Amino acid sequence: MCGIFGYIGVKNAADVLVGGLKRLEYRGYDSCGVTVASREKLGTRRVSGRVETLEKDIVKHPLKGQVGIAHTRWATHGVPSEENAHPHTDCRNELVLVHNGIVENYLEIKERMLAKGHRFKSDTDTEVIAHLIEERIKEKIGEKAPPFLEPVFFEAFRKSVNEIAGSFSLCVMWSRCPSMLLSAKMHSPLIVGLGKEENFVASDVSAFLKFTKKAVFMDDGEIASVKKDSVDYFDFKGKKITKKNSVIQWDSSMSEKGGYSHFMLKEIHEQSEAVENTIRGRLLPLEKNNLDREIGLKADVVKGIDRIQIIACGTAYHAGMVARYVFENFGLPTSCDLASEFSDRAKIIDKSTLVVAISQSGETADTLYAVGEAKQAQAKILAITNTVGSSLARKADFTLHTHCGPEIGVASTKAFLGQLAAIYALGLHFAITRGKLLYPDAKEYIGELLKIPRLIDEILEEKDSIKKIANDYSSSEHFLFIARHINYPIALEGALKIKEISYVHAEGYAAGEMKHGPIAIISEGMPVIAIATNGRAMKLVAGNIEEARARGAEIISLVDGETEKLVKAGRKILVPRTIELLSPILNTIPLQLFAFYVALNKGCDIDKPRNLAKSVTVR
Ligand code: G6P
Repeated sequence: MCGIFGYIGVKNAADVLVGGLKRLEYRGYDSCGVTVASREKLGTRRVSGRVETLEKDIVKHPLKGQVGIAHTRWATHGVPSEENAHPHTDCRNELVLVHNGIVENYLEIKERMLAKGHRFKSDTDTEVIAHLIEERIKEKIGEKAPPFLEPVFFEAFRKSVNEIAGSFSLCVMWSRCPSMLLSAKMHSPLIVGLGKEENFVASDVSAFLKFTKKAVFMDDGEIASVKKDSVDYFDFKGKKITKKNSVIQWDSSMSEKGGYSHFMLKEIHEQSEAVENTIRGRLLPLEKNNLDREIGLKADVVKGIDRIQIIACGTAYHAGMVARYVFENFGLPTSCDLASEFSDRAKIIDKSTLVVAISQSGETADTLYAVGEAKQAQAKILAITNTVGSSLARKADFTLHTHCGPEIGVASTKAFLGQLAAIYALGLHFAITRGKLLYPDAKEYIGELLKIPRLIDEILEEKDSIKKIANDYSSSEHFLFIARHINYPIALEGALKIKEISYVHAEGYAAGEMKHGPIAIISEGMPVIAIATNGRAMKLVAGNIEEARARGAEIISLVDGETEKLVKAGRKILVPRTIELLSPILNTIPLQLFAFYVALNKGCDIDKPRNLAKSVTVR
């Protein structure tokens, strides 16, 4: 968790760093801080709370200098407070550092440092790293500084990173050597941004996109030595290495709100584009085997698969559940597991299993760990991710990128639709390659899929009617979402959206299971949201709706032109008709809007819900 950012150049570092932190806040936002160096003096501001508070503090007490580091935190060790906010320092306040990750052996290092007389100021695991580097510097130079400090700083840093167990992306600054920042990566994301007379290091490109699109994705076990006019790369043994530059396609304006009140609302409105961009070039012409060319998923691999194992967390897990129906529809046995619960299942996979890991960020620790286990079992890994250069993309054998652009709202919306779009394209590729879908049927499937972006926009045009229903129910304390088959995961996703941003109890249930338990909780006036669009089990869903209504539930149903008449009562949300297999995409949108307006009515902090972070890099 957490976002780190470092800057060295010719601009006012505090302005650059605070601007970047705002874009990294999705990684955690319980406290933050910045340190700027001017000549050999360090100035630090840290606050408990959001970057906005830090910014106000810096306006009152400006920080001058052209090099600095900054951090926005999601607490793991130590409560969110000013003392525990980064940057952390050594005993002499000369060395400052920011960290994303967890130092697993921090207690052991802390004991060693305490025994050597180091004094600690916070409860964090991070602070031990500052003392460790201080100790290694001391061993080299004693109390007196030699004329060339850069090699000393580098060696002390290099030795220290070799002693840390766990996950980290680090950025360190030493007041005696302010013309160089040092950064290292192990299991947490780190990207170098290359500018003109300025360079950056950050957890995510969005921090520096405003200044440069040229980036270098660091790999585990690598160090970057970052100066104003140059960046050098090394492995943890100190050997110089060469890294490839990439050009980021995202535009910095894509991370702004673009006239919407909230990022979540903006991102809900970007969904037709997200789906369109994700399927573009991947469906037609059929005979071209598009995914083979694009991601190297060759016919012999696809034909050699016995089964698919999906792993994912949160909203991505719901996309995985939909994928199970899609892949099985095309004859491929598929299981879908929460990455955090995957361990025991790893035993039953082998090299004939294709593991599909789904993750918007590509940095979710549970997913990455599960992928590690799957790799050990010799399974091939296919990643579906929105983040180019992410840890997941680099671990995988094949990567299918969703092209949704940056998602800032903590509750995932457009990334989910992008994942579904990628899954449909992948399903098509499997089906055609394995001979399960022949030309006319494939044509129909593609034709329906190509219509989806327009149908998404049709739903968005009706958002005011969904807003009205949401307003009428925003004081409800419980919501029940029900659906069957391929829309069951969408009921779960609808409930998750309400929980995440409104802090209200909501449950998603398979409609057929209602009678086995949940029907007992239905009381007079309780809203039950039912997905009742075109599908094999539509009549059964209509029956379940009646059962709930008979017990006092107020029904809100998602219906299409055909099914509308089958649902007898309650409020109805009209969804354009499509084939059942594709209906999850369309049915998601009213539920996202419903959750958004319930939360808006309750005055919740929609883009940054309490206790959550967008990218969860702890297990
Ligand atoms: C966090 C976010 C969720 C997200 C989940 C998985 O819990 O709050 O919105 O679905 O992580 O994230 P990923 O980046 O792996 O899709």
